[in-house]
Amino acid sequence: MEAATLIPATITYVKESLAGAEGGHDWNHIERVWRMARRIQKEEGEGDALTIELAALLHDISDPKFNGGDEEAGFRNAYRFLSDLGLDSNRVEHITKIIRYVSFKGGQDQDKINSIEFRIVQDADRLDAMGAIGIARAFNYGGFKNLPIYDPAIPLREYPDSKSYYGSKAPTINHFYEKLLKLKDLMNTSTGKMLAQERHRFMELFLQHFYEEYDPDSLP
Ligand code: ADP
Ligand code: NI
Repeated sequence: MEAATLIPATITYVKESLAGAEGGHDWNHIERVWRMARRIQKEEGEGDALTIELAALLHDISDPKFNGGDEEAGFRNAYRFLSDLGLDSNRVEHITKIIRYVSFKGGQDQDKINSIEFRIVQDADRLDAMGAIGIARAFNYGGFKNLPIYDPAIPLREYPDSKSYYGSKAPTINHFYEKLLKLKDLMNTSTGKMLAQERHRFMELFLQHFYEEYDPDSLP
């Protein structure tokens, strides 16, 4: 099957798989990551475009949040889906590996795969957690999980594994320090690093305004 048919078939599959997902993980997120990954690939001039596009499209269907907690179900489904489309087995293996390791999940498992295709998809996904969109997604997730917006009494913490990361009841503001503000220094590609600067700056500005409004006495 050619890219011209593989991509639309994958889009249909992903849309069906993510129907009803929380707003930060819906088709819009996938489409932004897909487009961003394509842009990074073009600017870097490296990487197999078909692998990058398919991995970007499929990167969140393995999320255990949407498979009743089963981490493996999504990978198996993606593997079967790509094989059934007739994609060559090297690409099927590689794409399944990319989507396995692309998520941040509290920070571990970072060095298990290091292909340029992986690094591009990971940058595209990370950029979508930053900036104005990243702020919107964080508070949407916090609302979805019924987390407090801010509570200065709850300290920042580290998450040693994905279970504790996803089980966190910490306020959404903490998430900025626990993940979002770290992303700038974790970008892989020069295009990703460049785009992350402005998004990082905007999150810092947002936090500065947030604290000023939180404490009327500190307002300028
Ligand atoms: P990914 O898109 O890589 O699968 P996650 O599943 O870790 O990322 O998170 C999805 C979105 O929800 C991201 O924008 C992330 O910042 C946000 N999010 C994840 N955990 C929290 C949390 N504890 N509090 C607030 N936002 C969160
Ligand atoms: Ni994602």
